[in-house]
Amino acid sequence: MQYRHVPVMVKEVIEYLNCLPGKTYVDGTLGGGGHAKAILEAIGSDGSLIGIDKDPDAIAHAGKSLHSFKPNVQIFHDNFTNLPEILSRLHITGVDGILLDLGLSLYQLEGSGRGFSFMRDEPLDMRMNPEQGQTAEELVNRLSKKRLAELISRYGEEPRAARIAKSIVDSRHQQAIQSSLQFAEIVKKAIPAKYRRGRIHPATRTFQAIRIAVNQELEALEKFFDDAINLLNPRGRFCVLSFHSLEDRIVKERFKVLARGCTCPPRFPQCVCGKVPQVSILTKKPVRPGQAEVQANPMARSAKLRAAERLGD
Ligand SMILES: C[S@@+](CC[C@H](N)C(=O)[O-])C[C@H]1O[C@@H](n2cnc3c(N)ncnc32)[C@H](O)[C@@H]1O
Repeated sequence: MQYRHVPVMVKEVIEYLNCLPGKTYVDGTLGGGGHAKAILEAIGSDGSLIGIDKDPDAIAHAGKSLHSFKPNVQIFHDNFTNLPEILSRLHITGVDGILLDLGLSLYQLEGSGRGFSFMRDEPLDMRMNPEQGQTAEELVNRLSKKRLAELISRYGEEPRAARIAKSIVDSRHQQAIQSSLQFAEIVKKAIPAKYRRGRIHPATRTFQAIRIAVNQELEALEKFFDDAINLLNPRGRFCVLSFHSLEDRIVKERFKVLARGCTCPPRFPQCVCGKVPQVSILTKKPVRPGQAEVQANPMARSAKLRAAERLGD
């Protein structure tokens, strides 16, 4: 299938990243290169963009779609958590903006054949980088009932996690779980009939949970925050587009801590940690897509954009 993705809130992202001619930016989640193209157009022939994605299909596609911007764009098949090493190899000590557009691309959901969607019958893989790590099939067939329940509850915020975990373990005793439709049916069966007719598919939260676990999505985001701010030049911007409450909570909390600086408990008469505010938050509330964008692109529906600027002259 052709690579398809409609980038979300492009105008807002360009504005909050403060894309200026001649400056250097990072797109840590290149995907189909939609945001990257808009950044490259805004920074002109003297600017540069470093694009990263862990999905080899995204890299192959972006390599073609951004070809005309070479040598202003450099593309890396890697995890964005390795940005410090990538910049060090390029002898870049600081950048003027970093973008993370979290979640899945439309291609991954509909065209990758990796079992991300409960609407398609595909092998239950769910790895964004199919060259690394455990598949969803391995996780759901191997983890204990207790661990599965914890995972589905934590990463899916699924109130019926224990019932679903039991259904998974009972089913795999009969037959190994290998496909996305088979897995969706097992989850659906665990949910009482009266709760199955809601607005969202009964397997939505469980699919989200397993995908987050397979790709270690929250760990990557947490880890990246430690580095991202240090890699920004003074007045450099960090923008994150998130698509569910677990991601958004991390972004909101980490920005708050960086903006407050000091981590001493309020009962301390004087600061002893010596930390100072590092960023100013540019979005008191997350920026949401307009109605017209959501109508044109339903994937934008749950998007939240938060941005912060590194302090300094
Ligand atoms: C929503 S898509 C990005 C779409 C992109 N902004 C565009 O305009 O086409 C998210 C992308 O992030 C990638 N991704 C997710 N976590 C990653 C990580 N830790 N490191 C690198 N890429 C990651 C996924 O493979 C996916 O291609």
